Amino acid sequence: MAGEPRRPLVAGNWKMNGLMTSVSEVSKIAAGARDLAQRVELLVCPPATLIAAFAVTVRGSPLRIGGQDCHSEARGAFTGDLAAEMLKDAGASAVIVGHSERRRYHDENDTDVRAKTMAAMRAGLMTIVCIGETRAEREAGATLSRIEQQFHDSLPVAADEKSLVIAYEPVWAIGTGLIPTTADVAEVHGFLRKQLVTRYRSAGEAIRILYGGSVKPVNAKELLGTANVDGALVGGASLKAEDFLGIAATYG
Ligand code: 13P
Repeated sequence: MAGEPRRPLVAGNWKMNGLMTSVSEVSKIAAGARDLAQRVELLVCPPATLIAAFAVTVRGSPLRIGGQDCHSEARGAFTGDLAAEMLKDAGASAVIVGHSERRRYHDENDTDVRAKTMAAMRAGLMTIVCIGETRAEREAGATLSRIEQQFHDSLPVAADEKSLVIAYEPVWAIGTGLIPTTADVAEVHGFLRKQLVTRYRSAGEAIRILYGGSVKPVNAKELLGTANVDGALVGGASLKAEDFLGIAATYG
C-alpha cells in the first residue's frame, strides 16, 4: 500500500557455489533470520540442486529460499532447463531473473527476461528482476537511458510488491569490489522509483528496489542507508552466514 514503509529484503545469490555440505551454513543463516525477522526479510537463492534440501532445512524459520533463473514455459522439451513451477515445487518462494551473468553468458535479452518474469509470477514466485548498466554504458553517460530501456522491456504490465522486486546491479560493480557513489545509487534508485510509480501507480511505491554489486558488511550501512534502497542482492558475501547476517544486521 502506498505510504506504508517498505519492508527491507536482503537476498543472497549463491551463483554456482554450494554442495550438500552447505546445509550447515544455511542453518546458521536461518537461525540469524529469526532474530532479525522483525526488521528485515531474508532470502537465499542457492543453485537449483540445493533448493529442496535448503527448503527442508529452513522450514519453520522466516528465511525464504529462491531460485536463480527459470524458463518461460511451464513444461516441455527444453533439456536442462527448469520451469518456475518446478522451483516452487522444490520449495522456492522466489526467483531471480535477468541477472547480468545470465544476460552475458546465456544471451538473455530484455524480451526473454520479461517472459521469464511473467512465468515466475504465474507460478506464484516473488520475482527479482535484475537490471544495470555496463562500465562502457556508464562512461558513455548512458546509464539512465539503459536502465529505462531495461525497465520498459523486461517488466510486465501488471505487478505488485508481493510479486515483483527490482535489483539494480551495475555490471561493473559485480564481484569487483567497486561500488558506485551513494549519489549515483540514489540517482538510479530515484529514477527507478519514478518509473515504478508511473507504471504501477500505488503499487509502484511499495515495490522494493534492491542494490547489488560488491555489498559487504563494511559498506552495507552506507549503501542500504541511501534513499530508495530497500535492501541488497548479495553475491560473494552471502556464502558465509556471518557476512550475510552482518549485512542484514544493518537493519538491526
Ligand atoms: P557480488 O556481491 O559478489 O558482487 O555479486 C553481486 C551479484 O551479482 C548478486 O546478484
